[in-house]
Amino acid sequence: MKKKLVVLTGAGISAESGLKTFRDTDGLWEGYNVYDVATPEAWKKNPDLVQDFYNERRKQVLAAQPNDAHRGLVELEKYYDVHIITQNIDDLHERAGSSNVIHLHGVITRSQSDLNPGLTYPIDGWEIKMGDRCELGSQLRAHVVWFGEAVPMIETASEICESADIFILVGSSLAVYPAAGLINFVPSQSPRYIIDPKIPEVRNRKQVVRIEKTATEGLKELLQLLT
Ligand code: APR
Repeated sequence: MKKKLVVLTGAGISAESGLKTFRDTDGLWEGYNVYDVATPEAWKKNPDLVQDFYNERRKQVLAAQPNDAHRGLVELEKYYDVHIITQNIDDLHERAGSSNVIHLHGVITRSQSDLNPGLTYPIDGWEIKMGDRCELGSQLRAHVVWFGEAVPMIETASEICESADIFILVGSSLAVYPAAGLINFVPSQSPRYIIDPKIPEVRNRKQVVRIEKTATEGLKELLQLLT
């Protein structure tokens, strides 16, 4: 039986595909304070601005291509039972060909009912328009988890981490909970690898293999170590 390899990814894995990370640019996300665009309060106060903001992000995501780091994780499936847990709202893991991907913070290529976050839909093109409605009659918004909202997939993700034989973190500052706490669910005997040019602080850091490189370079090294 193949060993279970669990990978937690963050914005850093898509940086080399041209998508910006959150915390490498003086606290702004594409020029916006996250609380002006990524909270239920912002949506209530200025729905047009929030809708436009995510429509623009969707356009960028659709134009981006997976990079060698996304593809490296696909390659690992030849040797391991790979489970990807991503904080990213892009769909680059799926487009690279990964089989098991959980989106903790939703995925921007789908829309979601404003009344029931469990109701999600594919989007035709790049734009959700004001006036587009779900089956319950409420306005559609981007399928992303905003600050202050529940993270429905966190329990499934914690369970996956609890049974990891190997754990890998790629390109996340581990600044946002509950995702940042997932590494603590990994059994203590299971090896952990972190790929990031700026490795974040974690508990029991002596047990961590640190690969202080970009995602594409780091994945190349990891493939050599693990295959
Ligand atoms: N390769 C690998 N890692 C990189 C690269 C690269 N080329 N460039 C930057 N990084 C690293 C940074 O050093 C940093 O540790 O990627 C990490 C990006 O961190 P954040 O911007 O904080 O992104 P992330 O951890 O994914 O953010 C978590 O915060 O705003 C919310 O919901 C949003 O999912 C997001 C969550």
